[in-house]
Amino acid sequence: MTETRGASQVEPMGGWKRTHSCGALRAGDAGKTVTLMGWVFRRRDHGGLIFVDIRDREGITQCVFNPGDGAEAHAKVQGVRGEFVLAVRGAVAPRPAGTENVKIPTGAVEVLARELKVLNDCRPLPFQLDSEGDAEVDETLRLKYRYLDMRRAPVLRAFQVRDLLCRAVRDYLHEHGFLEVETPFLTRSTPVGARDFLVPSRLQPGSFYALPQSPQLFKQLLMVAGFERYFQIVRCFRDEDLRKDRQPEFTQIDIETSFLDRDDFLPIVEGLVAAIWRRVKGVELALPFPRLAYDEAMARFGSDKPDLRFGLELRDVSALFVGGEFQAFAQVVGGGGAVKALRIPGAGSMSRKDLDDLTAEAKQAGAKGLVWIKVTAEGLNSPVAKFLSAVQDRLLSLTGAATGDLVLLVGDAPAVAATVLGRLRIDLARRFKLIPVDRDVFAWVIDFPLVEWNAGEKRWDAVHHPFTAPRDEDLPLFESDPGKARAKAYDLVLNGQEAAGGSIRIHQQSVQERLFGLIGISKEEARARFGFLLEALEFGAPPMGGIAFGLDRLAASLAGQESIREVIAFPKTQKGTCPLTDAPAPVDARQLRDLGIRVVEGADPA
Ligand code: AMO
Repeated sequence: MTETRGASQVEPMGGWKRTHSCGALRAGDAGKTVTLMGWVFRRRDHGGLIFVDIRDREGITQCVFNPGDGAEAHAKVQGVRGEFVLAVRGAVAPRPAGTENVKIPTGAVEVLARELKVLNDCRPLPFQLDSEGDAEVDETLRLKYRYLDMRRAPVLRAFQVRDLLCRAVRDYLHEHGFLEVETPFLTRSTPVGARDFLVPSRLQPGSFYALPQSPQLFKQLLMVAGFERYFQIVRCFRDEDLRKDRQPEFTQIDIETSFLDRDDFLPIVEGLVAAIWRRVKGVELALPFPRLAYDEAMARFGSDKPDLRFGLELRDVSALFVGGEFQAFAQVVGGGGAVKALRIPGAGSMSRKDLDDLTAEAKQAGAKGLVWIKVTAEGLNSPVAKFLSAVQDRLLSLTGAATGDLVLLVGDAPAVAATVLGRLRIDLARRFKLIPVDRDVFAWVIDFPLVEWNAGEKRWDAVHHPFTAPRDEDLPLFESDPGKARAKAYDLVLNGQEAAGGSIRIHQQSVQERLFGLIGISKEEARARFGFLLEALEFGAPPMGGIAFGLDRLAASLAGQESIREVIAFPKTQKGTCPLTDAPAPVDARQLRDLGIRVVEGADPA
C-alpha cells in the first residue's frame, strides 16, 4: 500500500534488506552497492545536489542525491525532512579530496543514491536532535518525547553502558556460582525505611499488596531454601522524596549468599566491581578497597559516604578551646561537644557575601553558627579574631593552614559539627574545583551503629533494616548500652555516593526477636508483619549475608552522568510524574468501584 502524507510518498520496504548499518562503511567499501535504512539526521540542499546524512543506531552516513545517479530518487528526496525514515540504495564512493569528515568513522565515504524509499515521514520536532549537549532543552520536554531524546547519540551511549554493565554483572555472578531468581512484585510490605507503593486487591477487597522496596526478605528465604548464592537485577519501589540519585522505581543488583562472613563476602563483591570497571571502562581497579569504620568516616570526613577523591579532612580542635577565652566554644567542649575544623586551601579570597551564604548553609545543615577565619600575611582575619590570638599558632599547625587559606570552625555535638563541615567540605571542593573527576574512588564503610536513638519517638530505630546482624561480641550491649552496638553492615561508597549497601543477617530466630524487642516491635507486631520470616528462621536457616547495588547509580557513574534519570529509559520527574504517559492519573469510577475504593477529594500528601 502506498499512501501520501505531507510532501512525500510513504512506501513499504518492498523486500529491500539492509546490507550495512549507517556506521559501517569505510574507504575499502568503495564501489559496493549498499542499502542503508535509517533516519534523516541532516539534509542540505545544494541546488542540484542534495546531501542527506542518514542515521541509525550504529552511526551516520552521508548520502548524495544527484539527478544523474537516480532521477526518481532525487525527485523524491526533495520532500524529505528531518527524521523521515528512509531506505537508500546506491554505490559507495570515496568523498572528493578535501571533503572527508574525520569526525565520524564513515567520513571517508559517501553513498551515491540511486534509489530511495521513504518508509515514513515525521512531524516537525519539538526540539532539535542534532546537538551533542542537552542543557538547552528543557528536561520535561525531553521526557515527554523521550523516544526522540533517545535518538541522540549521547543518550544511546548511556544505554549501551548500562547494557554492558548488566552483561558484566551476569557473567561474573554466573561464573561465581550465583543463581538468578525472580521474586514477587505483588507482595507484602518490606520495611526499608521509605513508604510503600500499594496495589489494591480486587479479589480481596480492602487488602493491598505492597510493591517491594527491595527483595530483602525473599532473598533471605532463598537462603533458607538452600540456594546458597542468589542474585537478581531487580526493580525496587520506594515512595520517597526524589533527587538526582533517587527514583521511585529503580534497579538493584541484589545479592545474597550463605555460609560466608563479612570478610569472605566483601572480596567477592570487590571482584564484581572490578569486573564491571574492566568490561565497561577498560580500567583495572586496585583491590581490596580501603575500609573505613563509620566512626572514622564521620570524624575525618563528616559523612558516612565520604568522597575520597580529595583530602580536606576535618580536624578536631576541641582541645584548643577548653576553658579558653572563646566562651561559646569553651561551653560546647565543656558540655561534651566538639569543635571541628575544615581548612580550604586558597579559599581566603572568598567575599563577605560568600561567607555569609556559607554561614546560612551551615545553619541550614543544623549548626548554630559558623566561625570563619582567613589566614593572611598579617595574621588571622575573622569576626572572632580577638578570641583566637592565644590559640592561633596551634590552630594553624593542627589544620595545616597557611596564608591564603580559609579555616571553618563548628562547635556542637560531635556528630552535628562533623556533618555540617562534611557538607561544606563537598560544596567548597566543588566550588574551588578540588575534585579530580577523572578517577573513581571506592571505599567500604563498615561497623555502622546497629541502632540510633529516635529522640522524637523515644525509642531505638534500626540504622539499616532490622534483619541486620550485630557483631557477635556486641550482643550483650542490647541490654546495657544499645547505642554502642555495631552492626555487621557495610556500604560501598563510590565518589561520595552510596553505590551499595548490605549486611550479614540475623539467622537465628531468638536473636531476631531480641532485636525486634530492642527497636520496640512487639512479639505480636513482629508475628503480624514478618511472621513468615521468623517462622522460616526456625527451619534451619543458614548464616547468610548479602548486598544490593543501586544499578542506576553505577550506570550513571560509568556513563559520566550526574543524574540517574539519564540512564533510565522512561524516568519520572522530581515530582514522581511521567511526562510521556502522564502517570500517575485518575482512573475510571468503575475501576475504583471494582476495587472497593473511594477517593477523598482534596487529600494532602503527607
Ligand atoms: P539499600 O536500601 O541500601 O539496601 O539499597 C541498596 C542500594 O540501592 C540504591 N538505592 C536507590 N537508587 C535509586 N533510587 C532510589 N530511590 C534508591 N534507594 C536506594 C542505593 C543503595 O545503596 N535490601 C537492602 C540491601 C541488603 O541489605 O542486601 C537494601 O535495599 O545505591
